Amino acid sequence: MGKGARIVLPEGTEERTLRAADEVIALNLAHILLIGNKEIIGKQAQLLGLKHIAKAEIIDPIENPLKMQLAVELVELRKSKGLQLNEALRLLEDPLYLGVMLIKAGIADGEVAGANNATGDVLRPAFQIVKTQPGFSAVSGAFIMVMKDKQYGDNGVMIFADCAVNPDPTVQELAEIAVASAQTAKAIAGIEPRVAMLSFSTKGSARHAKADKVIEATRMALQMSPDLLIDGELQADAAIVAMVGQKKAPGSPIAGKANVLVFPSLETGNIAYKLVQRLAGAEAIGPVLQGMAAPINDLSRGCSVDDIVNLVAITANQANALKMNSITNEKVII
Ligand code: ACO
Repeated sequence: MGKGARIVLPEGTEERTLRAADEVIALNLAHILLIGNKEIIGKQAQLLGLKHIAKAEIIDPIENPLKMQLAVELVELRKSKGLQLNEALRLLEDPLYLGVMLIKAGIADGEVAGANNATGDVLRPAFQIVKTQPGFSAVSGAFIMVMKDKQYGDNGVMIFADCAVNPDPTVQELAEIAVASAQTAKAIAGIEPRVAMLSFSTKGSARHAKADKVIEATRMALQMSPDLLIDGELQADAAIVAMVGQKKAPGSPIAGKANVLVFPSLETGNIAYKLVQRLAGAEAIGPVLQGMAAPINDLSRGCSVDDIVNLVAITANQANALKMNSITNEKVII
């Protein structure tokens, strides 16, 4: 589990975040770093009757003894974009920039934010500063879908991606989304990935440039990760229904039993996960951001305390999985 990972919560004065931090500490899921004014956090914690917050490390974005050191580092990272020291000092008063700089400086291992901030505002500093893992050019967002109907995926557990970030992925990005989603399946959902690259066509049933893009991305994903169990292009029914898979894609290693669904665009992925969540009553956990050099995950602004606790636990697991990968010097290979 995620024990020992240091997770920074930039929205440290926000009520749900504080309650979640208290629970994470009580359950020993991760070390917590809260960004915010010490006095305000202390008063809030007292008011809410939180018993464990005293064990969190609090970093004030204004009175921050690390500010100058981090600003110099930030200028170095963004000098190609013309960033000056005074602007860097100002950016570091923004908890979302400070959070990712704490990761960059090795003070935190991961971040969870978004209870009070829009997706783009959480992602932009992460993309600019933490950047992608070696072997990846694009970050993407996966959902762990827990179906009521246990015949799908692995006992009802499936991964859907990209549902959160790349509006119109290139072939290369689509291939990366497949490889990254397989990593997420293994490291976070604990299932052996069987990846379907989805389309409106199965094995040439329709001829269109959009289907060709999916075929090309499947080929590229296999080059990136030769042992990956993957196939495409496949329609959704051929991917998840055994009888349809056998008929439309005979001999496929995964047709009819896929547990990782890679969608051809953000429109399709985002719409699909929301429909499955609402119409089929599936639980949608995420988005889990994948392909980033360190785990940073975005909350919905409508999130509950439990959502935050779950995402902190997932982020801590991702941090530990990344550490293991770098210790064993594994690449992106599944
Ligand atoms: N992976 C890695 N880096 C990226 C990515 C990506 N997918 N996209 C942009 N970047 C980097 C750029 O390279 C750039 O880095 P640089 O400054 O070092 O050159 C930096 O991020 C900013 O790039 P912009 O192109 O200016 O990015 P912008 O700020 O316009 O957009 C964003 C990035 C916000 C993530 C955009 O892609 C977006 O809005 N995506 C959709 C998010 C969304 O609304 N999702 C649906 C809701 S979420 C849900 O329902 C679960």
